[in-house]
Parts: sequence; structure tokens; C-alpha cells
Amino acid sequence: MTALNASQVKALMRWYVDAGVDETVSETPTNWFEVTRKLAEARAAAKAETTPPSKSPAPRKFSRAPAKPADIGLPMGAEEAIKDARGLAASASTVAKLGEAIVGFGGCPLKKTATNTCFIDGNPDAKILLIGEGPGAEEDRQGKPFVGPSGVLLDKMLASIDLNRERVLISNTVFWRPPGNRTPTTSEAAMCMPFVERLIELVTPDVLIVLGGAAAKVLLNEAQGIGRLRGRWFDYGSETREKPIPAMALFHPAYLLRSPAQKKEAWGDLLMLRERLET
Ligand code: URA
Repeated sequence: MTALNASQVKALMRWYVDAGVDETVSETPTNWFEVTRKLAEARAAAKAETTPPSKSPAPRKFSRAPAKPADIGLPMGAEEAIKDARGLAASASTVAKLGEAIVGFGGCPLKKTATNTCFIDGNPDAKILLIGEGPGAEEDRQGKPFVGPSGVLLDKMLASIDLNRERVLISNTVFWRPPGNRTPTTSEAAMCMPFVERLIELVTPDVLIVLGGAAAKVLLNEAQGIGRLRGRWFDYGSETREKPIPAMALFHPAYLLRSPAQKKEAWGDLLMLRERLET
């Protein structure tokens, strides 16, 4: 084949762009894990060269303790329900007993309109705990978290970094489907929170992943939106636990289904998670 000169290459590129080709794809596959690792190593090496040695550790972002009921203006009866939930949660000594306690808890109004209680799916001995927002229609039917369309995408996200439901445990901030898939109210989330906190305590995961803005808000107790919270490491329980748990927020799979352009950011966040799991 004769080589093209510069103006012929330019004309060819113009032709491609006009035809709608705006991305180049190599004929041979690229191992992006390897590329990302090499970039991270190069970045770390460059940083080590330019950063003067310092005695004090780099500042870390600490998440505040979960908000107290009195701070969030609860409706009548909610304080009582939260007290009940705390008592039930505290007396559950295993994840299975916690599940039974949740099924027996009548304080959360969401239970009245739900078909089933959705507590966990995955492996209760796993060291990666994922917490979503709340069950949707399919979850309500099957009584398990993330078994509908969001769950399908979640499985693909996990598979992209060699994880699956054998290696993670999945739950939600509320255990009953909010009618019409609306976001759980502050008081509904507060009523379920003692159970979520107890689940985290019983599992004591190496890593806590919160899925979506609503879960990030209640578990990291941060007012910022998910766009600002995602892709950063927080310390869950820095004020209450001797050893805080590294926590990260990811875009919720349901959001990614509606906004596929954000999958690029989610992929970067998953690589961060994978890197953390490998250290
Ligand atoms: N969305 C969630 O946040 N949780 C589920 O279990 C399903 C969809």
C-alpha cells in the first residue's frame, strides 16, 4: 500500500469525522488494567520525586457520625420506632438473627405497602459490603436486593473487577419498597438505620460501598451530591469505631442505566476499588 501524504491523511480524517466516526478502536485488545496500573505507578513515582518528605500523614477525609434523630425533625411516633429498631438490632448476634429482627419490626410505614422484606443478597461472610437505596418492584416481588434491572447492571459492574455475589454482601438503607420507587424519606431511612449500622458492625467489612446519592447521604452523612462524593475514600465510623471502615460512594446502577455517559466515571471508581482490594 502506498503511504498517504499529510493532506491525504487530513482528508481521510475529515471523511471519517463527517461519516460520524469520532473514536479510534485498535485492532488488537488493550489490557486497561495494565495501562491503569502503569499510569498509577508512573504518577506515584513522579509524586515521590517532587514531594518533599513530610512527617505528618496526608490529610484524610473523615465521614461524620450518622445524624441523630433529634437533628432531623422526625414525625410523631418515629422516635419510638427508632428506639425499637435500636433495641432489636442490638440484640441480634448474627446476620441471620438480624434478618429475623427486621422481618419482625413493624415500626417502618414502608412495610405496610410492601409485599416482601428485602434484607440481603450475596455472601454474609464477604468482606465487601454494598448498600443501595431501597428495593424496587422486582426486589419487592422476590424479597431480595438488586435482582431487577439495576441488579443486572450491578452484577456487570462487579464482574468488570472480578467480583460477584459470592464475594460481596448486598443490602439497602431501607428494607421495604418505597411506593412508586420514590427515595425513602428521612424518617424511613432513620427507622431502618439501626439495622443497617448493626449489619455493618456484624459483617465488619474491609470495604463499604454505598450506591447512589441517597445511601451516601445517610451513611456518610454528607450533604454534597453523589457527583461530588463518588470516587473518594471516606472513613465510615471515624467517630464511633476504633477502626473506621474505608467507604466509597459509586453512582447507583439505576442512574447509570438512565445516564450511560456516566459509566466512564463509574469505571474509574471501580478501578479505584479494585486497586484498594489488591493492597
Ligand atoms: N435499587 C436499590 O437501591 N436497591 C435495590 O435493591 C434495587 C434497586
